[in-house]
Amino acid sequence: MSVPASPDMPLHPAQLCIGLTGGIGCGKSTVARLFESHGAGIIDTDEIAHQLTQPGGQAIASIRAAFGPDYLTDTGALDRTRMRQLIFSDTDARRKLENILHPQILAISASRLATHARVPYVILMVPLLLENPCFMQLVQRVLLVDCTEKNQIERVKQRSQLDETEIRAIITQQLAPEIRIARADDIIQNDGTHDELENQVAAMHDCYLRLSHRNTI
Ligand SMILES: Nc1ncnc2c1ncn2[C@@H]1O[C@H](COP(=O)(O)OP(=O)(O)OP(=O)(O)O)[C@@H](O)[C@H]1O
Ligand SMILES: [Mg+2]
Repeated sequence: MSVPASPDMPLHPAQLCIGLTGGIGCGKSTVARLFESHGAGIIDTDEIAHQLTQPGGQAIASIRAAFGPDYLTDTGALDRTRMRQLIFSDTDARRKLENILHPQILAISASRLATHARVPYVILMVPLLLENPCFMQLVQRVLLVDCTEKNQIERVKQRSQLDETEIRAIITQQLAPEIRIARADDIIQNDGTHDELENQVAAMHDCYLRLSHRNTI
């Protein structure tokens, strides 16, 4: 089921930017690839975060200053496993890391948005968009990819080393689905086949094309 975009939404004058969000394993990356095949521009904040935390990355000096060298690997990248373990249970550490990364991710996303001038609209992938409202300033609409917890667990289990207990712990840390649904403008319910998912994305793409057209005339 998809909820069509309302053509009467007030929009940012420059570029239609849709924030794509959803819980772990709900299908965000798959949906983003489908939008890309329709010609949408894609900005992936996870990829930007990886880039910032590679050896020599823009965020590394601040991470070293805030957390010490123990949270860097031998090559000077962020030790993601170690940091994930720390911030999973330590809210202050999580905030400290977010205060370093989020302003940089935001600035890079904004500059990439400006380079996407030739696409009808941009999909900004922010897994925790609704948990981190600072990213809302870049988007005009929120598109949620949702699926049942059962599908979430099965799909994540198939593609990663995480076991069911670990997956459930991550899901518990994220916003509850009913809160996400209440805050989203548009919803793609990804509990069916890939063909059904493709059809939902195609319908949503048509809505966004209409919105982006209204945005430029
Ligand atoms: N409708 C579907 N039917 C079956 N498998 C699916 C469906 N949609 C996505 N998948 C599979 O589920 C897994 C998770 O999908 P995807 O990587 O797109 O989710 P994600 O939300 O980006 O995950 P993450 O939160 O880890 O980034 C992938 O292996 C994908 O191929
Ligand atoms: Mg993904």
